[in-house]
Amino acid sequence: MLVVEGSASETLAKNVSEELGCGFVQVEKKQFPDGELYVRLTKDVEGEEVAVIQSTCYPPNQNYMELFLLLDAVKDLGAEKVSAVIPYLAYARQDERFEPGEAISLKTVAKLIESSGADEVYMIDLHAHRIEKAPEVFGIPAHNLTAASVLAKYVNEEYDLENPVVLGPDGEAEKWAKRAGEAIGADWDFMVKKRLGSKEVEITPRELDVSERDVMIIDDIISTGGTMTEAIQILKDHGAEDIYAVCTHPVLSDNALENIEAAGAKEVIATDTIGSEVSKVSVAPVIAEAL
Ligand code: R5P
Repeated sequence: MLVVEGSASETLAKNVSEELGCGFVQVEKKQFPDGELYVRLTKDVEGEEVAVIQSTCYPPNQNYMELFLLLDAVKDLGAEKVSAVIPYLAYARQDERFEPGEAISLKTVAKLIESSGADEVYMIDLHAHRIEKAPEVFGIPAHNLTAASVLAKYVNEEYDLENPVVLGPDGEAEKWAKRAGEAIGADWDFMVKKRLGSKEVEITPRELDVSERDVMIIDDIISTGGTMTEAIQILKDHGAEDIYAVCTHPVLSDNALENIEAAGAKEVIATDTIGSEVSKVSVAPVIAEAL
């Protein structure tokens, strides 16, 4: 197998190739004055199984275009099998037509990934809540991996949690809380969230007692930080000890980090599906195992 680096996931791609002990293909990339992209693979891929690793984080349109160029080049240069590994899949939130006339963006990007040459696709903690299984939108085998276990193990070991509780900040995060709680043998539950606007949410706890316990709040994405901030404030009011704000994808728009820290989080921890100052856990082992 060969691993090809996209520019949004260069270090991650290198780490995956090291985990697998396989070849790594550097890509020469440049941008023309008019904004067009150029890519050139620096190794022969003919007859090989190839994984192209490229997150579609900010700037999503440019990162998607680079992904399409890489997939098409790899296929066209005679690779035997092409896997698209897209740790953060942008456009996943528009997974339905909410208003008449809207594009269903997730379906559009799925078609483009397939038609660019991918035989298979891997994503991590896909943010498409209304879709039960990733393959529903792809015409090729699609795998939705999760970083919940590696995140939970890292936090538990690194911070030596006391009588921990793992909580999802809303019902949609139940699956990550369950996975994370089970990975470290901790109690887990989820909170109830009502969205009041694009940045405002109202969160209420359920049954589990958090008083004097360390809490790990786990979610797929921290975007504006509104969800985490509200959850932390509620948990503080309920007497929680140290609170860790944990997510797979650190989108971190606006002042998300500052707000979460100001709300009282002891630490914010995320993965390297998107590079950031809180990307302390690598998903390289998760991807390598799946590949
Ligand atoms: C929502 O359904 C997601 O799982 C996250 O809770 C949400 O995207 C986080 O967004 P924000 O940080 O802007 O509250």
